[in-house]
Parts: sequence; C-alpha cells; structure tokens
Amino acid sequence: MCGIVAYIGEKQAYDVLIKGLKRLEYRGYDSAGVALLNNDLEVFKKQGKVADLEKTFNNKFPEGKIGIGHTRWATHGEPNDVNAHPHYSSDHNLAIIHNGIIENYASIKKELQSKGHQFSSETDSEVFIHFIEDIQKNNNCTLDEAVRIALTKVVGAYAIVIISKDNPDQLIAARKGSPLVVGIGEANGEFFLASDATPIVEYTKNVVYLNDEEIAIINRGVGINIKNIDSVEQSPYVHTLEMELEAIEKGGFDYFMLKEIFEQPRSVSDCMRGRLISEKDHALLGGIRRHLKDLVEAQRIIIVACGTSWHAGLVAEYVIEEITRTPVEVEYASEFRYRNPIVNKGDVLLAISQSGETADTLAAIELAKSKGAIILGVCNVVGSSIARASHEGAYTHAGPEIGVASTKAFTAQLTVLYIMALMLAKAKNTITDNQFKDLSRQLESIPEKINTVLSLNEEIEKISELYKDASNFLYLGRGYNFPVALEGALKLKEISYIHAEGYPAAEMKHGPIALIDEEMPVVVIATRDSSYDKIVSNIQEVKARKGKVIAIVTKGDALIPKMVDHVIEVPATHEAIMPLVSVIPLQLLSYHIAVMRGCNVDQPRNLAKSVTVE
Ligand code: AGP
Ligand code: GLU
Repeated sequence: MCGIVAYIGEKQAYDVLIKGLKRLEYRGYDSAGVALLNNDLEVFKKQGKVADLEKTFNNKFPEGKIGIGHTRWATHGEPNDVNAHPHYSSDHNLAIIHNGIIENYASIKKELQSKGHQFSSETDSEVFIHFIEDIQKNNNCTLDEAVRIALTKVVGAYAIVIISKDNPDQLIAARKGSPLVVGIGEANGEFFLASDATPIVEYTKNVVYLNDEEIAIINRGVGINIKNIDSVEQSPYVHTLEMELEAIEKGGFDYFMLKEIFEQPRSVSDCMRGRLISEKDHALLGGIRRHLKDLVEAQRIIIVACGTSWHAGLVAEYVIEEITRTPVEVEYASEFRYRNPIVNKGDVLLAISQSGETADTLAAIELAKSKGAIILGVCNVVGSSIARASHEGAYTHAGPEIGVASTKAFTAQLTVLYIMALMLAKAKNTITDNQFKDLSRQLESIPEKINTVLSLNEEIEKISELYKDASNFLYLGRGYNFPVALEGALKLKEISYIHAEGYPAAEMKHGPIALIDEEMPVVVIATRDSSYDKIVSNIQEVKARKGKVIAIVTKGDALIPKMVDHVIEVPATHEAIMPLVSVIPLQLLSYHIAVMRGCNVDQPRNLAKSVTVE
C-alpha cells in the first residue's frame, strides 16, 4: 500500500513532501520518512505518523530542492524506524521509496549477500535499491538503465522513485501494479510525483499517469522522458485534473469520515447529474452505452470487488436480476482470481472499486479479460488502474474519499449500479414504463431522504453512547437490506474494533442465535418491504432471548417500535433502493461509537485505503 511523494524544482522539497505525505497518510501510517539531497543525501525516518516524523526535527527542517517521501503500510518487516522508507543503497549514494511487494526479493537478497551486500532492514524495498546499485556498478551504465534492467528481473508490484547523489537534478520513477502520477509544475521544469493526485492538485492540474512497466526520467528544468522496460520511448499524455483542493480538506468536520457521510446528498446527486432524468425517461451512462449491446446479449454478469465495494455488488445482483432478468454472480475478487473460474467469451465482468487500485480486483479483471470477457469498471478515482484496465466504465463522481472506511463511495457505487440496471432493463424491455419512471423518480428523491436521515445524527449519537462498550454486535437484514447488514457490521468492526457480524435475518436461527443474550446489541434493518412480516418475526426471536434491538424502520411504522429498544426512522422509498437510505444510520452509528472509544476513525489500525497488495 503506502503513499509515495517526490519533488524536484525550486521550492524547498521538505514542505512539499510533508504536506503530500499527510494527504497520502490514508494509504498507510506505520511509519513515515523523507530523503533530501542538498550536497549530501540524507534520510530521515520514523515509526508512526507523519506528525511523529515532523517532531523529530524540532522545527529545524532539512533543506534541499529535490526529495522523496514515504508513508508505509508494512508488508515485509514490522513497522519500526529501520524498516521505514526511504532506504539507502549500500554506498548511500541512492535512496528509494517503494509502494508494493517484490515477490522474488529473497533470492535476490541471497545473491547480493553473497557479493557482500549488508542489509539493515527486513524489507523487500531495501533489496530493490541494492539490486539496482549492483546492476549499475556491474554494467557501468546510467541509473535509468540500471533501473530498467532491474525491472526486467523483479517479480511483483511496485511504484518507485529513486534519488541519486550523483544526479542532483534527476529523479527516476517507475511503476507496475501500484499507482504513480507525475504533476508537471507551472514553474519551469518543476515536477511532483505521488501515489495519487491529492498532493499535487494545489500546485498543478497537469498530470501524467504512468503506465505499467514505464520508467520516467525527470530532469529539473528540462522535462520528463518516459520509456518502457524494453527501452522504447513513450510519449507522455498530459491529463487535466478536475479535482479541487477543498475536496481533499476536512472543511470544519472533526474527521474526514464524518465529512464524507454528510457529503452524501451531494455526492449521490453529482453521481446522477445528467445521467438520470425521470421526466425524460432518461437513464444513461456514457461508457456503458457503448457496451449496451454486449450487456443485453450477455448470458450473465459477473461482479468482482472487495470489502464495501463487494457489498455494493450484492445489492446490484439483487436489482439487476430483479429488473433485467440477467443472471448475476458476485465474487470476492481474491477468490475469483485463484479458483480457475468459468468465464465465457461475451460474459460481462463488472469490477467495482473506490480506489481503482485494489490488487485482487485488478488481477480478477486481467484473468477475465484473458478469457474473453468484456470488462466494465465502476471506480471513483479518475485515471486509476482499474478504470484504465477496463474496456469501458462509469465513474462514481463521489469526489476524493479520504477516510479509510468507505461511505460516500458506497452510495455513489449503488447509484451508478442502479442507473446501469435501469438502462439495461429498458434495453431488454424487462421493465414497464411505469416501473422505470417510478424507480428513477425515487432515485432522484434520494439525496433529500439522505438529508433527513442525517438530521438524526444526535439521536444516533445518543444510542451510540449506550452501546459503545459492547464487545459484539449482530446486524440483520433481509432482501435488499441484507448487504446493508454486512456493510453496517464491516463499518463498525473496522473503525471501532468491536467484533460485529452481518447476517441474513433468517439465517440467525441456523447458528448466530446462540450468541444472543441481554448483552448483545442487534441492529435490525427492518424497513417496510416485501419481507417485512418475516423480519418482524426475527425481531421477536431476538427479543425472546433478551437481545437489545436497535431497529432501522420506515417512518410511521407503528408495530416495530413497540417491540424493540430503539428505533431509527428513515423515509420510505422503493425497496430496491432502500440501501441508499438505510445504510446512512449505520455509518453514523459506527462513527460515533468509534469516536467515543477513542479510535482514530480516519486511520483505523492495520488498515489502509487502497489495498494494492494481494
Ligand atoms: C471499506 O470501508 C474498507 N475500508 C474496504 O473494505 C474497501 O471497501 C476495500 O478494500 C475495497 O476497496 P476499493 O473499493 O478501493 O477496491
Ligand atoms: N513492501 C514494502 C514494505 O514493506 C512496501 C509496502 C507497501 O507498499 O505497502 O516496506
């Protein structure tokens, strides 16, 4: 995972690096480090957050107009000062920052050790830079050539930036699997490199996304040259960023997560803008339209994703099957990629990912592509690897999501998936005009309904106070609300560290009911829908065993409030799109409980925002 950032130009690099690392900290926060070149190549690194690194300088910050920085999510070697990046070569003339995993590092390390190389860390990344150093010395070649040769020999994923004492006006960068963006500064010959565009956007909107197996040679005051690992020159394509700076700042909220929860009325409507107009019977996603025929003809749709995005996929399965009658399978990308799945030519694979960088999802795409599937991506991050690996797709337009727990990306993914389902249903003629109009009208009213739920924030905070010390939680839902139960449980466990499980309510009697006693809070999503009577019975079953029930109900429900300990009322909507509404109180519940337990909700332990390792 990790966040990497680098700068070359006329500014003091330290400032750019530290600010950039703070923006990338969501990607990993086991340690932070920088290397600056100012006559000497100096590395400063520290276990913990970027703020811990800053403290070590006692306000006397290192100088230099070229530098690299890293915030780590450890894969090889525990999170400590020594394993923190950057890593030096053995002669300390080179330093590297690396995001990814070098799978064959052990054999390379052994060979280098036999040649006398000594390693101070346990990381694969340190082996990488020693390897490059060794190649350069043996071949007596330029650094970029040594990097190129090294890349032909390493197996794994990487985004790297290398700084060299012998080339004080040059940075060398490369990527495969892990993302890397180069910002072209407005000042002459100034460049910014980062894992995503957030550290870059305040300086420039012109960026180049490096492709897999490309090497960028960046010279101060001169420019950027790109070649691939076969030494073939590539012409850089300059994109214009649409991201605004405010979108990546907290805007008065205590945490990004809370800001992002509250942004949902806007992000959902941004996601629908121009794509869904009920009055005109219009549901259209540009990229998807180009593959509508394939979708209509597909014998089945396979959805691959991880975590929250997988939950969005489950909701999509229900709605797509319901209104288009096309069979849908939803798979964990990590399972799909390793189990020799049956994929037929013409199958459509839908990959859902907020970051667009999740390694398992990316690998699942490549596998399905090799078997002839058509790949459609639903991503939030523009220009991300998954967006680019897909044949076509639709962006969710939720804006940057910084909190590690996904909230607004989930509701935006659902919104895109609903529009896609509507498009397909219309094209297949499996939906009546009235149904189409009804569903699209209801979708249009969702932002307002989310606002109504957000106004219950204080009420939800009070309920949170009562259950903040629980050690377990159960989340139950049926039908469209079953994936919401899974999502509610995931939100709680990842940010508050309370063990939580989501279950289809009817499955409770096959096992989890044994857990219920007066200590067990059970969140039941019991909005009025076709399985309402059934879930009422499930609530009775929990109450008969003295469980504490927090029920999410439709406004005006007269029955459930009499049976349960707490109710949270949400506005009525069509049952297929209820997840857009019913998930909101669960996001708030987990947020408040985590804050009350003193957890860092934006950066929960052991996690990172984009999981670029398998
Ligand atoms: C969500 O709250 C999680 N942090 C995580 O499960 C996430 O959804 C998963 O890692 C998938 O990420 P992606 O959407 O960026 O592919
Ligand atoms: N493998 C490197 C390390 O453990 C980089 C980790 C990463 O990118 O997550 O330090």
